[in-house]
Amino acid sequence: MKILGIETSCDETSAAVVENGVHILSNVVASQVDLHQKYGGVVPEVASRKHVELLIPTVKEALEQANCTLDDIDAVAVINRPGLIGSLIVGVAGAKAIALARGLPLVGVHHLEAHIYANFLAFPDPRFPFVCLIVSGGHSDIVYATDHGEYEMMARTRDDAAGECFDKCARVMGLDYPGGPIIDRLARAGNPGAVHFPRAKVGDGLDFSFSGLKTAVIRFVQDPENRMPLRDVAASLQEAVVDVLVENTLRAAEIKRADRIVLAGGVAANSRLRAEMEKCGSKRGIDVKYPPPDLCTDNAAMAAGAGRFRLAKFGPDDLTMDAYATEPLGQAPVDRP
Ligand code: KG4
Ligand code: ZN
Repeated sequence: MKILGIETSCDETSAAVVENGVHILSNVVASQVDLHQKYGGVVPEVASRKHVELLIPTVKEALEQANCTLDDIDAVAVINRPGLIGSLIVGVAGAKAIALARGLPLVGVHHLEAHIYANFLAFPDPRFPFVCLIVSGGHSDIVYATDHGEYEMMARTRDDAAGECFDKCARVMGLDYPGGPIIDRLARAGNPGAVHFPRAKVGDGLDFSFSGLKTAVIRFVQDPENRMPLRDVAASLQEAVVDVLVENTLRAAEIKRADRIVLAGGVAANSRLRAEMEKCGSKRGIDVKYPPPDLCTDNAAMAAGAGRFRLAKFGPDDLTMDAYATEPLGQAPVDRP
């Protein structure tokens, strides 16, 4: 079964063809990063307009790279929630148009579920249950996945997401957008112990908070007394983020007696997070999995992968399927049957 995946939730226009939910035949990502770089972040209206321009050429390119036409496609999967609403609407309208014109089943996929399923494109044998840390520009969640589409939310961020913290600190450090990958690169040559930035604890629970860390880094960078190579600030910031992500995820695994941890989302591409989670996990006999970096960040193959499992278990959506700016994982939008 070949699924055409479409993803336009933020600033990447992406289309992919995935066979049987796990074999990637193509995965085209048209990045708008250059367009938003001068603003230091994504400008929603600019992103939506660019998606309108790029969607059809990106779908055509994905079909071409997969060596097929729409005649070979069996279903269309699109990320329809959560994300920038104007951007989501473009992908959803495009997916509906293709599904209607071709009489194909249509399936709306939750953005975070798609991030989780990026793992199954790399390791095509989803073994439940597992604890999943989903870290991106908009989310920092820990979920316990017990089966396809069955998630228990264990933690979330109370304020900024981990990726947002990286991006905002990077901006003050004079680095380009998105700052996460640049901080990761700079930190490789830096001293993670150069500055001890705060590691926030939210009561006894597993929730995250990164706004205090962000403020501490901004204050440190803006203080003319603090003359320190940027690579040391980057390494110290990264260490503070990674410490809490690893600690809380391990605690979640302990609570659930889980022997498997899965990483997902753009920040899961972070080299230090991957290495630390793997090191600490292996000491406790926990298997740690994460997708290759290009499948961690937003892409349409993950939408097609999740769409395959969603179709098999829950069936297709109809053409009343809509886009939603916010929606927790594992919960149907309120106005859907
Ligand atoms: O999942 P994603 O592509 O988009 C959202 O759904 O938000 O995640 C983007 C986020 C950005 O904040 C970016 O800075 C961060 O992921 N990111 C990284 C790395 N690669 C991407 N953060 C730290 N280290 C990386 N290597
Ligand atoms: Zn994402």
